[in-house]
Amino acid sequence: MSRQEPYRDRSVLIHGKFNSAKWDFQDHITPPITTAVAFRLRSAERGAAGFQQFAHPDIDRASAEPIYIYERLDEPCQGLLEETLAFAEKGECAVAFATGMAAVSAAIGIHIEAGDHVIFHPAIYGCTYSHITHWLKKFGISYSSVDLRNLENLTAALKPETKVVYFETPCNPTMDLIDLEAIRAAVAAANEGRTSDRKIVTILDNTFSSPYGQRPLEFGIDYVVHSLTKHIGGFGATMGGVVVGPRYTETALLLYRKDFGGALSPDAAWHILTYGIPTLALRLEKQQENAMRVAEFLELHAKVARVHYPGLDSFPQKNLAQKQMRDIDGDFAPGAMIYFELKGSPEKAYERATKAINHLANNALSITLAVSLGQIRTLIEHPASMTHSTIPPAEQLAAGIAPGGLRLSLGLEDVRDILRDLERALDSLA
Ligand SMILES: Cc1ncc(COP(=O)(O)O)c(C=O)c1O
Repeated sequence: MSRQEPYRDRSVLIHGKFNSAKWDFQDHITPPITTAVAFRLRSAERGAAGFQQFAHPDIDRASAEPIYIYERLDEPCQGLLEETLAFAEKGECAVAFATGMAAVSAAIGIHIEAGDHVIFHPAIYGCTYSHITHWLKKFGISYSSVDLRNLENLTAALKPETKVVYFETPCNPTMDLIDLEAIRAAVAAANEGRTSDRKIVTILDNTFSSPYGQRPLEFGIDYVVHSLTKHIGGFGATMGGVVVGPRYTETALLLYRKDFGGALSPDAAWHILTYGIPTLALRLEKQQENAMRVAEFLELHAKVARVHYPGLDSFPQKNLAQKQMRDIDGDFAPGAMIYFELKGSPEKAYERATKAINHLANNALSITLAVSLGQIRTLIEHPASMTHSTIPPAEQLAAGIAPGGLRLSLGLEDVRDILRDLERALDSLA
């Protein structure tokens, strides 16, 4: 650790945590990969010690020499990735999961029990919405969907049973921003007088920005979750998720992962460590540059009603964006995601959105019609009928998810090709 302190994040993310106790990493330029499901325990005593030590609240996993037992409990590639992600997000500890949704469910799941209440911002990834409103409800957890851009709404929605305030910023897909500092302060005020087991925690899905573009723990948010499948993995070839947060909840997160079974495979961890994280800054810089050019183009296009991109001067929350969306060098990082709405009545705009993405699917090389985001290829999708279709239409509208809205995730292609493909698709609309 001390060897890495004088170096900038960009360099550490390329080289990894080479002083890790997880493995003899001293002589590996790329991290080693393990494929053993079960590990040799060497003796009865060491085996018993391994079970005793696993997820033990008094044992600091960052410095204790690990005794690996079984891949679902812990294994070195995942451990190395976790150390690097904790570093990237400036958190005390990170626990990796098989997918982003496994991480979302764990981050919320370790804090709640039947009778508790969860608050979430209405513009939210569709599967997170159905996780809370369908599955958690089934297990006796109530919820309120609350526009967190207005703190009075939050204060009014808080109940004695509230345990979790959950949100994304920028929100998927609308690009709304939530003020991290303001949420932290409001929740801290609500926590005054609450006993430690009843404290409300804030959980933020930082997938849209990635730790390259925003580090919410530095603003006092309790937990960050990511779909590693997106910007951090970066190539669209592996799935993964992570929860980053305070050391004292590492035990609960590890036990949750062990018993619900959403462990990340070593192969996926290795790919993210080897290819994803070392190229994160480089990819995001270029993707963000492309996003700025595309947002400017869309804003001027006659068939486009609105463009939601934090880099534009017209972005209504520009000041907030400037404050909290900062890259690892401290520069403004509006990101690589754009949401834009086509003109027309709701029916007309929906029809136009469908036509535009069909045109792209049939004719474009530089833009692919696909869900997911944050990879080297530019992807476009229609949230109302695809990623956010689990949210009922009236709630979609209230959340700002328009029938004619399209979500673009910018990749690394030559921006001139992206602009030409987009222009042709928009020109094809009546
Ligand atoms: C913001 C956000 N969070 C979480 C997820 C879930 O991630 P995964 O698909 O890796 O489970 C997604 C997936 O699209 C997402 O967009």
